[in-house]
Amino acid sequence: MTAKPDSSSPRLALHASGGPAAAELLRSLRPMLTQWLPRQRWFAGKGRALDGLTLSAATELLPRPGTGAAPALPGLLHLLLGAHQGDHADCYQLLLGVRPVLPPALAPALIGRPAWGPLKGLAVYDAVPDQRLTGVLLERLRTPGRVGALRFAREAGAHLPPGLPARPLRAEQSNSSIVYGDTYILKLFRRVSRGVNPDLELPLALARTGCARVPAPVAWFEADAADPVTLGVLQPYLPGSSDGWRLALHALHREADFTGAARSLGRATAEVHTALAAALPTAVLRGPSLAAVAEEMTARLKAACDAVPQLRPYRVGLREAFAAVRELAEAGQGCVVQRVHGDLHLGQVLRTAARDGAGGGWSVIDFEGEPAKELAERRRPQPVLQDVAGMLRSFDYAACQRGASEFSRRWAEATRDAYCAGYAEAGGTDPREHSALLRAYETDKAVYEVLYEAHHRPDWLPIPLAAIRRLAQAPPSPRRTSP
Ligand SMILES: Nc1ncnc2c1ncn2[C@@H]1O[C@H](COP(=O)(O)OP(=O)(O)O)[C@@H](O)[C@H]1O
Ligand SMILES: [Mg+2]
Repeated sequence: MTAKPDSSSPRLALHASGGPAAAELLRSLRPMLTQWLPRQRWFAGKGRALDGLTLSAATELLPRPGTGAAPALPGLLHLLLGAHQGDHADCYQLLLGVRPVLPPALAPALIGRPAWGPLKGLAVYDAVPDQRLTGVLLERLRTPGRVGALRFAREAGAHLPPGLPARPLRAEQSNSSIVYGDTYILKLFRRVSRGVNPDLELPLALARTGCARVPAPVAWFEADAADPVTLGVLQPYLPGSSDGWRLALHALHREADFTGAARSLGRATAEVHTALAAALPTAVLRGPSLAAVAEEMTARLKAACDAVPQLRPYRVGLREAFAAVRELAEAGQGCVVQRVHGDLHLGQVLRTAARDGAGGGWSVIDFEGEPAKELAERRRPQPVLQDVAGMLRSFDYAACQRGASEFSRRWAEATRDAYCAGYAEAGGTDPREHSALLRAYETDKAVYEVLYEAHHRPDWLPIPLAAIRRLAQAPPSPRRTSP
């Protein structure tokens, strides 16, 4: 079944044939999906009413039970579903399993049993925890080609073994991931938009330049439209790795030094930036385009001050941080921009131990960028200091988990210095020497955090507010631009 019943669907207009079957399918699933979708962790439109659902594409990856060559097997249905909330619409990727009887282990994944329509009386459920069905996805990735609205592709020369056992990754995520035999991990993007996802684009470009700091994509699939929509990326799984957040908290808990790890993380970040600059276009912001960066930051500060009263006492000092960038622009200085990670923090880096003669070290993952931003914005070249500022803010968040103390303050400062020193060693430029831009990017990030915490985790609001107090008072220092 392949269908495009509604060309007004958000973001996507897939080139697939329409049909009454798809319209009937959606009508029969609509009540249960309307309940289920907003409860998913990856649903981006929380807190707003869900006004309607439309179907952008439906592809049967395995026929529903009772039909096809193996009538006893579960069915697997791939949907691209438009979720309409007021005048806003998002598109979500759904993988639905279909069985007459749901095994008890899959009961938590149940979405519902349609009372009528093509799936009448069958259990419809989220297929991600069903290893039988996610095994089918790996099989498709092994054999590139088109299936309905989908196109499966593989990196040249990649050989994927068959039959690797699948398990869902049980982590709090904004997407869904499946691990195959501790060898590969498939990230299924949940909220999707038209255009290549940077989480495929950047690791692929980096791997093709020989940069070993990212798990290189081996296969992927996309909606087969004129402008493809990336739906999933398969890459090597790093067994036994720990993310930077866990390692940092562990060090803090033991009152241990983290500067060695931070220094090598700084080096890894610089290596990734250097490789991205070599692989993809760069530009220089000067004059009005650099001043525009300051204006955008100032506008975000104003919006945050309007929403969060606790921020208002610091408004003047924070605006100075952005005014310093405008002064750089007026002084005729330039700032190099390039593709960056876009959402770099301790949770986006994994460290593996050295083994089997292979060097361990830091790998950088999740190049999707800040999920709340539109795709075009996430793909826009930025100063590398945006990523550096993200990581520095993350050190501060980690240190605050241990409570405010002299030890935490010193730990954060030493970690920050070591990271910048490592970056300078491998990047040839020390972020601390570009204090005006670094302060502006840290401030912009902390303002975003204030807004986020005020809305989602008020208990955490003191963390960015403490940084805001510091950033609002930062003493004037020699200003230079990013190289
Ligand atoms: N290549 C990998 N090897 C091992 N674990 C991984 C790998 N990629 C991702 N993970 C695990 O999955 C988690 C989420 O991955 P991520 O790409 O950051 O997804 P999300 O967009 O949902 O944040 C990571 O924190 C990590 O625990
Ligand atoms: Mg992530």
